[in-house]
Amino acid sequence: MRTKLLALIALLLSSCVMAQKEIQLPVPSKSGGMPLMEALSKRSTNRSMDSTRHLSEQQLSDLVWAAWGINRPDGRRTAPSALNRQEIDLYLIGRSSAYLYDANEHKLIPVAGGDHRAEVNNQEFTKTGDWILIFVADYSRMNSDDAQRNAITAGIDAGLIAQNVYLYGASEGLAVVVHMSLNQKEVAEILHLGTTQHIVMGQTVGLPAK
Ligand SMILES: Cc1cc2nc3c(=O)[nH]c(=O)nc-3n(C[C@H](O)[C@H](O)[C@H](O)COP(=O)(O)O)c2cc1C
Repeated sequence: MRTKLLALIALLLSSCVMAQKEIQLPVPSKSGGMPLMEALSKRSTNRSMDSTRHLSEQQLSDLVWAAWGINRPDGRRTAPSALNRQEIDLYLIGRSSAYLYDANEHKLIPVAGGDHRAEVNNQEFTKTGDWILIFVADYSRMNSDDAQRNAITAGIDAGLIAQNVYLYGASEGLAVVVHMSLNQKEVAEILHLGTTQHIVMGQTVGLPAK
């Protein structure tokens, strides 16, 4: 009886996720934007988000590409990673679904339905921000069984991606907050993370309050 009930719940959950559609992102704009030195001089954390305004699909595409997109034919990325292990996966929690960024296809794959932003942490900006990026390190892609070393490496690799997001945000006039404050257990459950996947941090992006 219990097994049947669990199977039914699993079926309902998977059909719920399947009901969410993949988002094939538009081709990222790889030119233009603010000159780098100007973006650096504007780079800042802004927690005041306008919950009524949203990033356009083009901005979302450019954001994830700038963050962690593929920028060379050999599959290397806009941010470096130790030994090119590319152990960081970028998940996005938005107002109607949560997704995994597939850099190869430049698309978002749904992993959960519903608005889970308020569950991410207890700070106001996660409720009002448009997208919450969750940096997840998959230790199975790393060349070490040393969990402490993996955590340090993943932290550095995630930080490099986060700075790309900050610079893209500065260039586009977006509000951005990188945050360690994150309900690890709840978010891991929402994203259906496996045992080798470890959340490093989050980064909320939205349109600034006027
Ligand atoms: C590793 C790290 C963790 C952070 N965690 C949080 C956080 O949990 N909540 C928050 O509001 N800001 C967080 N911040 C943002 C910092 O508070 C912010 O970067 C700092 O005040 C400097 O401001 P600036 O980014 O505008 O230069 C974090 C920043 C870093 C680098």
